[in-house]
Amino acid sequence: MKKSLKFLALSASVLALAACGNGGGSDASGGGSGKTYQVGVAIYKFDDNFMTLYREELETYFNKLSEETGDKYVLDIQDGKQDQATQTEQINNFIAQGKDVILANLVDPTAAGSIINQAKSAEIPVVLINREPEVEELEIWEGKTTYVGADATQSGTYQGEIIAATDSKGDINGDGKVNYITLFGDPANVDAQQRTAYSVKALDDAGIKREALAEPYLANWDTAKGQEVTATALEQFGDKLEVVFANNDGMAVGAVTAIKAAGRTVGKDILVVGVDAIPDAMELLEKGELTGTVLNDHYNQSHTAADVAVKLMKGEDVASYYWVNYVKVTKAADAELKAAEAKTETTKEAKARYEERAKSEKNSN
Ligand code: BGC
Repeated sequence: MKKSLKFLALSASVLALAACGNGGGSDASGGGSGKTYQVGVAIYKFDDNFMTLYREELETYFNKLSEETGDKYVLDIQDGKQDQATQTEQINNFIAQGKDVILANLVDPTAAGSIINQAKSAEIPVVLINREPEVEELEIWEGKTTYVGADATQSGTYQGEIIAATDSKGDINGDGKVNYITLFGDPANVDAQQRTAYSVKALDDAGIKREALAEPYLANWDTAKGQEVTATALEQFGDKLEVVFANNDGMAVGAVTAIKAAGRTVGKDILVVGVDAIPDAMELLEKGELTGTVLNDHYNQSHTAADVAVKLMKGEDVASYYWVNYVKVTKAADAELKAAEAKTETTKEAKARYEERAKSEKNSN
């Protein structure tokens, strides 16, 4: 990652935060207002490509905030090991320890309600990240709880648009339709459901005919699994298979390995599109071995989550949603990380928007 871009991100918002008043702990640290804040961070599992990028950027950014503001942010980052019981225990510990804020990437977003209720009784604000909860969960303690993330329908739409913009429009064998498979992330994650639906909806919207060769293959966001299920599909469907929609780059990278092993060539006789813009995928993209991806902007998501957490620790109220945009990526420059403002939304606005979305989904079925 380019250093200059990282510095760019230490922009006005951080300086503004530095000038704010203080709540929180009391240990003196050299210069500035010198407060120490305890930040509990619960990650659904460490062994996840995208969440590793996110976690590392979060640490880097909080360290920078500590250096620049004179306040000190002490991070306690826990690995939920993809087990909600383990993670709930970790969060209960955060509450017992009296952390100043909790950032949570929940294993199971349906646990959000009980976690928020617990945190509320202990008056510890909560920032949910990466796995979107139901709107109702954010209504429990408005102002002190929030979701910082990206709208997964946007990433799915971009995936479909990338395929629609290729010369063949995904119909490589010219039989009048796109024969595709989908590599599915994780049923507990809205991102997987929405990317699966909206990638192919974008083909429909572009007037492109399509046929799913199989039900989505569950591959748990995982490279090895992505490779395994794509190999199976290639064996079963042979040259019929024209497009692989992968809910994330981890699985897309696995798909490309399987495609090469089967003697086929991405770009020439098959297309593959992922989401995240992780380094492994960008390497393939630059070699022409991946059709495209979508930047899942861990940089601005982690910075926004930290900025919002700081506001909460200083006693301010925050919006219910902070949305960071996805970016369509078909060349290296598209994935450049640069500071961007998140869009806020209230629970009321989100509810109305989701109602509209449900109506239009119903009409198009
Ligand atoms: C990312 C996946 C990641 C998942 C974790 C998604 O937004 O695209 O790569 O595995 O989040 O929850």
